[in-house]
Amino acid sequence: METIRRTKISDLLRDGQFGTTVSVKGWVRTRRGNKQVSFIALNDGSTINNLQIVADIEKFGEDELKPITTGACLHVTGKYVESQGKGQKGEIIADHIEIYGTASPETYPLQKKGHSLEFLREIAHLRPRTNTFGAIFRMRHHMAYAIHKYFNDHGFYYFHTPIITASDAEGAGSMFQSTILDFNNTPRTEDGKVDYTQDFFGRQTNLTVSGQLEGELGAMALGAIYTFGPTFRAENSNTPRHLAEFWMIEPEVAFYDIHDNMDLAEDFLKYLIRYALEHCADDIAFLNEMYDKELLERLNFIVKNDFVRLTYTEGVKILEESGQKFEFPVYWGADLQSEHERYLVEKHFKRPVILTDYPKEIKSFYMKQNEDGKTVRGMDVLFPKIGEIIGGSERESDYDKLVNRMNELNMHTEPLWWYLETRKFGTAPHAGFGLGFERLMLFITGMGNIRDVIPFPRTPNNAEF
Ligand code: 4AD
Ligand code: MG
Repeated sequence: METIRRTKISDLLRDGQFGTTVSVKGWVRTRRGNKQVSFIALNDGSTINNLQIVADIEKFGEDELKPITTGACLHVTGKYVESQGKGQKGEIIADHIEIYGTASPETYPLQKKGHSLEFLREIAHLRPRTNTFGAIFRMRHHMAYAIHKYFNDHGFYYFHTPIITASDAEGAGSMFQSTILDFNNTPRTEDGKVDYTQDFFGRQTNLTVSGQLEGELGAMALGAIYTFGPTFRAENSNTPRHLAEFWMIEPEVAFYDIHDNMDLAEDFLKYLIRYALEHCADDIAFLNEMYDKELLERLNFIVKNDFVRLTYTEGVKILEESGQKFEFPVYWGADLQSEHERYLVEKHFKRPVILTDYPKEIKSFYMKQNEDGKTVRGMDVLFPKIGEIIGGSERESDYDKLVNRMNELNMHTEPLWWYLETRKFGTAPHAGFGLGFERLMLFITGMGNIRDVIPFPRTPNNAEF
């Protein structure tokens, strides 16, 4: 038999010509039928839509079709014809079926019945084969592409910051050490401390919590840069919004102030949501139907409406006067919890909120200090269902003020000598922010748990796969 080049199911359903002979390959979602004919729903990951394969039982033989069960992988050749059934454009009348691999109904865990998301997390090696995770991971790809496209189209350069660093960018201290030292035989200095001079880099290093500090170096030369890479936080927070390994997008722009920064954040988020609506319509429709009936409406709403901008102080006042009982008390100076953020967004303003000018005590050392001596030019973008989706700031560009703040916080300035030099040599006002990629994915997909928007989540006590 002459070999025909494989067609992807998405291409076939979109452009296929009825009457042509085609070849498709994919995994069986279901097989049903009667004594005369078998209907096989085939999916190859290119679209949420399955392709129906019609197999004549007399032609193939009942025994030959038996191994074609849910999960099996097939190569099918046949004529693409207009479908008789409703809900699908075309189907294939099979001429030839090659079984690449079977999947025993006794042991293959993804049988037809619906599975809980919790169960699917335990089989992360197989869950991409479900409709739900197929949709989510296709969307994840489209969002990653859209992020690069947005910045490229706006004149930002993709600047690669290191994964292994010797500094704690956020000053939060929740870092994963990276070391080759032998824990059973750790080299020690004379005073009994671990001797990191004998470690791989000759110093103590960790996985980065943020690419920002190096990103600032890029912005001070290229003008506008962004990073997009994995970041790591060893905070033991077992919540639906925290991962130990997550991806972050961090634009950093010379000559931007906090207002430019807010404009960029709002335009960027709206662009990404618009992009998803335009390029992931089938997958969003599926998730809207299965998980979150308000998803589409919410996405459209964000694109069409301005974000509210107010200061932390104004926000706290609203929360204090709300009469709402919160689990965590709210007062000026308190670090806002997700419940507070969501109250402002979902109950009070009913739209995304950008809070600015936070108390300096609850923000990082590098934020630009306001004249009042109490607050800094930080900003958090708060979203419905998510809370904080973006954190950023205008940066302190004055050398003395920055060093004073580091001293106040008992930070060692020596390891950050290179960072401080940007304030010595041609310093400039600049600003930037970090978008948590999985928080964005939570919002775009309507999923409720961050473990379900990354293929292989890393959380406390969980690093399988
Ligand atoms: O607010 P964060 O900590 O800000 C920074 O890291 C800055 N250096 C960013 C910058 O200005 N360049 O983190 C930024 C965002 C948060 O708003 C949140 O969306 C996400 O990263 N994020 C997490 N996402 C998942 N799991 C975690 N443990 C996260 N921690 C932060
Ligand atoms: Mg933050």
